[in-house]
Amino acid sequence: MEHLKLIRGALRILPLFLSRALHRQFSAFLQRWTYKALPDAKNVVVLGGSFAGLPLVDGLAATLPTGYKVVFIEKNSHINFLFAFPRFSVVPGYEHTAFIPYDGIAKGAPAGLVTRIQDTAVGLTETHVRLASGREIEYEYLAIATGSSQPLPVQVSSTELVPGCRELQSVQQSIKASQKIAVVGAGAVGVQLSTDIKSFNPEKDVTLIHSRSQILNSFGKRLHDHVLPILQNEYKIRVLLNERPQLPKDRGLLRDQKITFADGHEEAFDLVMACTGQRPNSAFLAPLAPDAISKETSRILVKPTLQVVNAPSPRIFAFGDVADTGGPKMGRAGLFQGYVVLDNILAMIHGRAPSATYAPRYNVEGSITLTLGKARGVMYSQDDPDATSDVLIPTRGKGVDLGIAHAWGFMFNADFKQAKEGAKLLAESESEAAGNS
Ligand SMILES: Cc1cc2nc3c(=O)[nH]c(=O)nc-3n(C[C@H](O)[C@H](O)[C@H](O)COP(=O)(O)OP(=O)(O)OC[C@H]3O[C@@H](n4cnc5c(N)ncnc54)[C@H](O)[C@@H]3O)c2cc1C
Ligand SMILES: NC(=O)c1ccc[n+]([C@@H]2O[C@H](COP(=O)([O-])OP(=O)(O)OC[C@H]3O[C@@H](n4cnc5c(N)ncnc54)[C@H](OP(=O)(O)O)[C@@H]3O)[C@@H](O)[C@H]2O)c1
Repeated sequence: MEHLKLIRGALRILPLFLSRALHRQFSAFLQRWTYKALPDAKNVVVLGGSFAGLPLVDGLAATLPTGYKVVFIEKNSHINFLFAFPRFSVVPGYEHTAFIPYDGIAKGAPAGLVTRIQDTAVGLTETHVRLASGREIEYEYLAIATGSSQPLPVQVSSTELVPGCRELQSVQQSIKASQKIAVVGAGAVGVQLSTDIKSFNPEKDVTLIHSRSQILNSFGKRLHDHVLPILQNEYKIRVLLNERPQLPKDRGLLRDQKITFADGHEEAFDLVMACTGQRPNSAFLAPLAPDAISKETSRILVKPTLQVVNAPSPRIFAFGDVADTGGPKMGRAGLFQGYVVLDNILAMIHGRAPSATYAPRYNVEGSITLTLGKARGVMYSQDDPDATSDVLIPTRGKGVDLGIAHAWGFMFNADFKQAKEGAKLLAESESEAAGNS
């Protein structure tokens, strides 16, 4: 029954995927013959090259007419495959595989159509993006997909592969050196992290501390009812509910930290790991358009067309985790929102009004495949925010490496053989560090 519901939901979305894929292939084919790189081509700038930004870059690369080009600006040297960061912070040896080269993005597009700039946007004007390097990039259209920030082990602060791997290794070492560990926040990250720690290190004492009576509270209660007994009975994780300890801001890992609980008592932990949620990367927009940023969530306010509200130009769009779209904060939602941005930019280029609008398809965009340690997981999908109808299917684990090789090719058109280069760079830096010590 559950499987049938899942298949029915997937079938409903299949025609959209197929028509999009066919249209993309056909346009890309035509474009290879028709696109001319002109020196005065106008820039369609995509800011942020991750789950939301990259499919848009790909779509633009297949459809922009002569006279326009794509410039995508991203601070990182490699795609940071966040889905695997918590697992690879627990299990050593895989960290380099979570840094995926950008080479496969828009591969085969006509020369001059797509340019990647590795830099950080620090400000905006009505016409330009200001970068940390001092460069200013002019834009005709701007699509903001700068996502959100979270401290280790969800994200690394380094922008390059080797120091990024070192940050994940520092988490592995902290876990190894600790016996009594607290994970604070039982959203998807906190649940995955605590089950991974226990699954790969059953001898550790793990406490999961959550602010509410329901874990995984952005999903339906049925997911809580399924997962909580697995945490408590199978993994022997101590789960403390209705506790919201105050932690130092923006620090994911706290060694030798005391936690004060609601009843006033204190408890010492060897390691506290904060998995308390996202901070949207919207600050660079504030000086130009302060009223475009939600005072409550810091997300960028958007219309259903995904044009930024209260922006100085209708040619500025925002989507993905940085935007207040009403959709789930998931990579899949960013993909669907990117379709809307693409259609509206193309419409405006061709002199039409932007008429594509975004409405979340919860059952697809908000569905989650949650790992629960190395050998099991659960797939959950709900039809609406209130979970009036949902699907829950227990699953097996995806393997220790979470099937990362598949993600390289399937999601980012990258060749997994290149992961060896990352491993080599890391090994060289390790032997250099050993030589220096
Ligand atoms: C552990 C984990 C597992 C997950 N698993 C899934 C899953 O299985 N399925 C799913 O659909 N979703 C999953 N998600 C959610 C998904 O990762 C996010 O919804 C997704 O990353 C959002 O994509 P985004 O492109 O909007 O933002 P981000 O992924 O946050 O990317 C933003 C990009 O912008 C860049 N950037 C930010 N600021 C600047 C700047 N000023 N200048 C230049 N570049 C900048 C960043 O470097 C980054 O590359 C998971 C999340 C986590 C943490
Ligand atoms: N497999 C997957 O698909 C997958 C895996 C990981 C993440 N994700 C997605 O990525 C996004 C981010 O996930 P996330 O887990 O980082 O964030 P999240 O869903 O916001 O979860 C963080 C949780 O921590 C709680 N919290 C905050 N401060 C706390 C405190 N001081 N003490 C105790 N609890 C506290 C929050 O509760 P309050 O609301 O009460 O503040 C919230 O429930 C989500 O959309 C998630 O679904 C998906």
